[in-house]
Amino acid sequence: MNKTLKLGAALGVALGLAAVSTSISAHDGATGVVKERMGSMANLGSAMKGIKANLQASTKEQNEGLLLAATMIMEHSGGNLNKLFPKGSTDAPSRALPSIWENKAQFDAISNRLNDASLALALNASKALGKDASGLREGLIGERGEIISSLSDQAVPVIFKTIAGTCGACHQTYRAPK
Ligand code: HEC
Repeated sequence: MNKTLKLGAALGVALGLAAVSTSISAHDGATGVVKERMGSMANLGSAMKGIKANLQASTKEQNEGLLLAATMIMEHSGGNLNKLFPKGSTDAPSRALPSIWENKAQFDAISNRLNDASLALALNASKALGKDASGLREGLIGERGEIISSLSDQAVPVIFKTIAGTCGACHQTYRAPK
């Protein structure tokens, strides 16, 4: 079991969900990098459920659920997600649109925004749990650091909306409708 799946399973256990990794096998025809990114997206979907289930963020358990979900999104966004979209990887049953590679910088920027917003959630939950967040804060400088820091001070539902906004923005533009 790799680290991601372990984290996914831990999140599943923490939230009483079925094993997160099972949804990957739902795509029988997918292979290679297409299959891999569908797995990443499935993990993102599970993490969003994890946030939704803990939006109140009032108990320790809820904040731990949020921290796990945020960590999972951090791992499946930004550079880690961007590299799963090599040029022209649209083999069936992929719904990735070719326009991704006409605007790869913009595509990557949306994925990086998702990474930043999940970092804000991780900071928020760490603060609520009284955990040392210096590792998360490393490299948080300049305008980007300010945006992430101020988002982390918002209520969890606001951060959730920001995260969901990036999923929607990317899907609307770069994913073919079913
Ligand atoms: C930067 C762009 C981008 C972002 C950000 C993004 N997605 Fe996706 N997502 C895609 C693309 C493109 C596909 C289609 C991939 C394919 O079929 O090859 C996809 C597919 C999916 C799928 C279907 C996977 C499957 O098995 O077919 C799910 C579920 C999903 N995304 C969830 C999410 C969630 C939840 C978020 C936010 C937390 C998110 N995505 C953020 C681009 C993005």
